[in-house]
Amino acid sequence: MHTNDQSTDTLPKRIAVFGSGGGSNARALVEWSIVPANNAPYTIGLVVATSATAGITSVAADYGIPLLVLERSIPADEQTRLLLEALADHGIDMVALAGYLRRVETAVIDAVHGHILNIHPSLLPKYGGQGMYGAAVHQAVINGGDRESGATVHIVNARYDEGRILAQERVAVDPGDSAVTLAAKVLDVEHQLYPRTIANYVDHLVNHESMPRPR
Ligand code: GRF
Repeated sequence: MHTNDQSTDTLPKRIAVFGSGGGSNARALVEWSIVPANNAPYTIGLVVATSATAGITSVAADYGIPLLVLERSIPADEQTRLLLEALADHGIDMVALAGYLRRVETAVIDAVHGHILNIHPSLLPKYGGQGMYGAAVHQAVINGGDRESGATVHIVNARYDEGRILAQERVAVDPGDSAVTLAAKVLDVEHQLYPRTIANYVDHLVNHESMPRPR
């Protein structure tokens, strides 16, 4: 379990959340972390957005969290340089992807020693991989006639959606569900699952600092 011991290993891990969309998962991560009863072992120390108009930027503004915006017009090499600089400047230990629609370079994964997680709105390995994001995932589940779907939190490696699965939670697909109603049900589950899974992951790290890198 996490303790309040102030030695370096037990200080809250500083997490950067990367996103391209509405930012509801980023908001859920922040809000869970500031509930005193949760005794959160992590704090959100940086938000990275792929556009200044993405909803996730308002999470940074609302909670006074540093924000880095990586507009598409910035050359890829420069984006990587800016990201690495921001991770270092803000003492980031770990990255949580939340609807991040850009490739994460190996240098970024290495900068946080492979401690980079993602949340995906299906029961991986089903409905993962390139092009499987947003409504496409939920429409594919419905087209496939699946009776259940859900959310998956996994470790990110160089291949889309293929890193080790840490946690999943299921929702029923009801006969009347559309991609829109299914997305809403899965998103509700995501908002519970992601903070708890990250907290468990961090607790595990804190208590097993000698564990091998997660890839
Ligand atoms: C979520 O469904 C997440 O699983 C997926 O992208 C969506 C992001 O939503 N990777 P939000 O920006 O957190 O609201």
